[in-house]
Amino acid sequence: MGSGPRGALGLLLLLLAPPSRLASGCPAPCHCASTRVDCGRRGLTWASLPAAFPLNTTELVLTGNNLTALPPGILDALPVLRAAYLDANPWRCDCHLVPLRAWLAGRIELEPYRDLRCAAPPALRGRVLPYLAEDELRAACPPGELCRGALAAQLLLLGLGLLHALLLALLLCRLRRLRAQAASRWLLSTPLTSPLAAEPEPEPEPSEDAE
Ligand SMILES: *[C@@H]1O[C@H](CO)[C@@H](O)[C@H](O)[C@H]1NC(C)=O
Ligand SMILES: *[C@@H]1O[C@H](CO)[C@@H](O)[C@H](O)[C@H]1NC(C)=O
Repeated sequence: MGSGPRGALGLLLLLLAPPSRLASGCPAPCHCASTRVDCGRRGLTWASLPAAFPLNTTELVLTGNNLTALPPGILDALPVLRAAYLDANPWRCDCHLVPLRAWLAGRIELEPYRDLRCAAPPALRGRVLPYLAEDELRAACPPGELCRGALAAQLLLLGLGLLHALLLALLLCRLRRLRAQAASRWLLSTPLTSPLAAEPEPEPEPSEDAE
């Protein structure tokens, strides 16, 4: 019950979502010239950043905004992107920057990204983002935040495992009971005079003089 309308609603949302995520034309506060998309110095934050950029973007300027992180995959979604200008943003170097760091790791030329410095957290302030280890970024997130999802997944797996074990035990019990029933039925139906099994042939006696 209830899953019908909810499923239909989900499908509807799924059908409606992709077009709204695809950028058609130049995204709102930015200026586009050919395939260069300039969103520099527009006070953009994580929340006000356009959800997507034109697929043909080759240069993306995000310099001088209020960005602390980028939504995961926003750069990877641009197949012909050659350069992203990301300087002068208050980047917060924690686990949320792992996707950006991974994108940077895929660049051949790291020189343009040498001024990409962390503004926070205090332990990593001033460090150059492309030269940070992924572990350093992950360690900068409170453990709870990172672990909650993983913990939930582990608990779910554990629950499923226990359920499996329980079902298997029930099945084995039932099988054993069935087999016991079958055995007793067979015993009852077998005439008592017939042997339960053919007696094994007696071993030939070793001859006395064999030493
Ligand atoms: C790039 O794509 C946008 C829409 O996605 C289009 O408006 C624009 O004309 C394209 N630019 C070039 C140079 O192809
Ligand atoms: C940008 O960040 C600064 C410092 O965190 C803040 O004072 C300012 O209000 C922010 N601007 C916008 C547009 O969010």
